[in-house]
Amino acid sequence: MAIQWFPGHMHLTKKAISERIKEIDVVIELLDARLPGSSANPMLAELTGGKPALKVLNKQDLADPTRTPAWLDYYNSQPATRAIELDASATTPARRLIDACHALAPTRGSMVKPMRVLICGIPNVGKSTLINTLTGKRAAKTGDEAGITKLEQRIVLADGFYLWDTPGMLWPRIIVAKSGYNLAASGAIGRNAFNEEEVALELLDYLISHYPAALQTRYKVELAPGITDEQALEAIGRKRGAVLGKGRINLQKAAEIVIHEFRAATLGRITLETPEEFAHWLAAGQLLDAERQVKKDRIETDRLVRFKKIPRPPREG
Ligand code: G4P
Repeated sequence: MAIQWFPGHMHLTKKAISERIKEIDVVIELLDARLPGSSANPMLAELTGGKPALKVLNKQDLADPTRTPAWLDYYNSQPATRAIELDASATTPARRLIDACHALAPTRGSMVKPMRVLICGIPNVGKSTLINTLTGKRAAKTGDEAGITKLEQRIVLADGFYLWDTPGMLWPRIIVAKSGYNLAASGAIGRNAFNEEEVALELLDYLISHYPAALQTRYKVELAPGITDEQALEAIGRKRGAVLGKGRINLQKAAEIVIHEFRAATLGRITLETPEEFAHWLAAGQLLDAERQVKKDRIETDRLVRFKKIPRPPREG
């Protein structure tokens, strides 16, 4: 079962962004450094019409420090794009954000031509934490902007530097199955929208091949060659006392332990995807999505033909 999630207020966010974007100089997209590809919103580039983009890889303190540079390089090699890593709870991120925005829009940032920045991100990526950190000491919140939506917030980061917080949230249709699992593992998806056991198995499948030492160290389990994700989950459950009667393993409990310990980085600093892996998953997801669309179009054509709304199209081939 693939994970699909689309909170209702998405439409409000899309509308607010498209109305605001005309007068924005730089778009900051907050990403989760443990899953940058999956936590990005593919619709954003479309909505922001190619405006300069700053990708902030947040929660870098939880991500694998050997993998974050590859993601930074990946984004920094794209046109009109810069990337920085961040721990949003760190004390002074403002200077780094300001500098990165200036590099992207060097003519902006004066009182006459202020720098106007929009900040977006999917749920749980750390947007509120970042804004709280920014407003805590350095910036003054100027209240709601009239006209767009009551929820939009403008923050003054420095003289001539304004940050708009998008209301609601951004959430794309998940066409990459693996992204759905990674988002669920990270805590970005509501609990009721996924099955913990399934998510833990996907997570273990990845950890067995990419972070076996982290599993062995944390759970003291033997990872024999060829061990499956199911066997690993059972072994972890047994080690952690998640047992039902007659020696049966409580897989739900074991799954909760694995997910919780990944999120808290008790398992260590882990990144669930590399740029290459993500590109591969995305290409496969897009292919499946295109096939699904062809099937849908065919069904619709058949319906129209049946109701004599259109003539039967000639057979292909
Ligand atoms: P959102 O507005 O984008 O939805 O996210 P929010 O700031 O609420 O952050 C979601 C969770 O991620 C919070 O944890 C927050 O503390 C944590 N977080 C945000 N940025 C970072 C970061 O850079 N590093 C780490 N390690 N954690 C970060 P929580 O468990 O939901 O709440 P709490 O721990 O603050 O009580």
